[in-house]
Amino acid sequence: MPQIRPYRPGDWTSFLALDIETGLAALHAPAAVDMERYRKAWPNVLREKFSWTDSGPGAPGSTFLVLEDDGGTYAGHLWLTEDTDVFTGEPKLWVTTVAVVPACRGRGWGRLLMTLALAEARKRGIPTVALNVDAQNASAEKLYAALGFAVTRKRMEHRLP
Ligand SMILES: CC(C)(COP(=O)(O)OP(=O)(O)OC[C@H]1O[C@@H](n2cnc3c(N)ncnc32)[C@H](O)[C@@H]1OP(=O)(O)O)[C@@H](O)C(=O)NCCC(=O)NCCS
Repeated sequence: MPQIRPYRPGDWTSFLALDIETGLAALHAPAAVDMERYRKAWPNVLREKFSWTDSGPGAPGSTFLVLEDDGGTYAGHLWLTEDTDVFTGEPKLWVTTVAVVPACRGRGWGRLLMTLALAEARKRGIPTVALNVDAQNASAEKLYAALGFAVTRKRMEHRLP
């Protein structure tokens, strides 16, 4: 059985590798130069835009859980951030990211992490859990739909020539 625990400073390298892999997968076959730029820039983006510290995300109301496999190896993570909906004024719990390392996918661990996200919202009395998912990420979308998530907004982009 996998174990769940809070983030520790020694998780940085494993977290960053999995988070960058998740981000790159959403870029739709990026050029090598763009992948390199993203890899270099992401640690600073985490620090500057997501208040990342040695202890994990520093924004108030954020939670970062690490999933460890039976051998105590980093196998995945769940990052939650609390926010207020600008339209309704209601609190919302965002799944900033969720991921399982490739070697451990398909074992029900992604579902386990998402179940923890829903449980955390219930514990905090937050009525809505929200997330963004890339339009081509069919496996994640299937997981979210199976847990009761529904599409409420779509983002459209037009890339100019
Ligand atoms: C999305 C992700 C977290 C799922 O984790 P996982 O541990 O592989 O998922 P689980 O084994 O718990 O599977 C749960 C459900 O997800 C869906 N799913 C998972 N892998 C799938 C696949 N390859 N194809 C289709 N559906 C899939 C299924 O609905 C599955 O339920 P089922 O087994 O009853 O059919 C994992 O694929 C991942 O880390 N992806 C890269 C990071 C990422 O994209 N994160 C989401 C960002 S929004």
